[in-house]
Amino acid sequence: MLKDKVITVLKSSDDFVSGEYLANQFGTSRMNISNIIKELSDDGYVFVKKTRKGYKLQSSPNILSVVEVSQYLDCENNLVYLEETTSTNEYMKELAKSGASDGTVVFTDHQTKGKGRLGKSFYSPKNCGIYLSYLYRPTCKLNELSTLTAQVAVAVARAIETVCGIKVAVKWVNDILLNGKKICGILTELAVIGENMTAEYAIVGIGINVNNEASDFKGELHKKAGSLYSETKKKYNRAELTGEVIKNLRKLFANEKAKDLDYYKEICLNIGKEVVFEKDGKTITGIAEGLDDNNALLVKVGEETITLVSGEVSIRGVDGYY
Ligand code: BTN
Repeated sequence: MLKDKVITVLKSSDDFVSGEYLANQFGTSRMNISNIIKELSDDGYVFVKKTRKGYKLQSSPNILSVVEVSQYLDCENNLVYLEETTSTNEYMKELAKSGASDGTVVFTDHQTKGKGRLGKSFYSPKNCGIYLSYLYRPTCKLNELSTLTAQVAVAVARAIETVCGIKVAVKWVNDILLNGKKICGILTELAVIGENMTAEYAIVGIGINVNNEASDFKGELHKKAGSLYSETKKKYNRAELTGEVIKNLRKLFANEKAKDLDYYKEICLNIGKEVVFEKDGKTITGIAEGLDDNNALLVKVGEETITLVSGEVSIRGVDGYY
């Protein structure tokens, strides 16, 4: 896209770049370059414009795009940006079926039908969040993927710590919390090849509430959800955070056997707390004692220890359960 090429040149130059140079470089007219500069200004880029000298970029907006995100990555391959989509996981499913390669990332500014776990929806308003899906084509057996989501949670938590300087907590199994408010959810969807029980692909979907106002979360969400901004009163650069998340995911999937679950244990909010969960239609209360090697939650209920592999678990004093 010509617009991407123009802003890439302007971003990499400390000096003025003339409209004539840009027009010659990209085989177009100066009028077209001037229209592109107008479009970029509408996107929020601020330019200083001088006659006979051209344009100099003064500041970039806090937006998502391939250009903005790839400046934080070594390689910009396999990045797909959509201004709006129903759900990046759904979009990725179509790409995966038509042969998209391992490591493809789809990210968007706005989802109209963001999907959460257990058939819930994921609130995905525009201009404030990060909604992305990563395509992973595993070469290992299905059972080796049991800790996948937990490792993804670590990748996201580390990215938030690096970019925002905030240490977040994880609520088993895959919610990321700050001050007890959910600021990120992860939804992993697997396509399994029936006979030999291998995974054809996994789509890892990550939604992060970055710059939302607290008042943005209405009704039920108001008690439970928050954003990095609502909890710290600081705005964060979404492109930089997206870049760091992608970098960490690339590292994670380049070495699929490596487990970095010590950090997960360190930030896991459940351990030592009273937790409540549903089992066989009954509500059970116990104390979360720890995690096993497969990242299953071990809950002491009376004399018995119950191993939870998946599901919803509430923690007393957190996420609306008291
Ligand atoms: C949850 O908390 O229940 C999981 C939420 C996952 C949300 C992300 S946003 C990007 C990707 N696309 C979706 O439709 N859902 C995931």
